[in-house]
Amino acid sequence: MATEEEILARVKPGCICKGIKLYVILQAIENGAETFEEISTITGIGGGSCKSRRCGEKVALLLEKQKQQA
Ligand code: FES
Repeated sequence: MATEEEILARVKPGCICKGIKLYVILQAIENGAETFEEISTITGIGGGSCKSRRCGEKVALLLEKQKQQA
């Protein structure tokens, strides 16, 4: 059963300009991606109109959270 956080990640945006949902980024991190570049390659974020400004900050926070939980 999915947690509330997982359900919200399916509707929350990860990359607004490309329409990539947050859970796609979370899955990449869960599968071992450790840098923005790796996540960008896997998910396609970072190449949109924000040029990594918006999503870069979001990914940095998610990676930091992941490190704290490890
Ligand atoms: S939010 Fe789309 S490339 Fe950054």
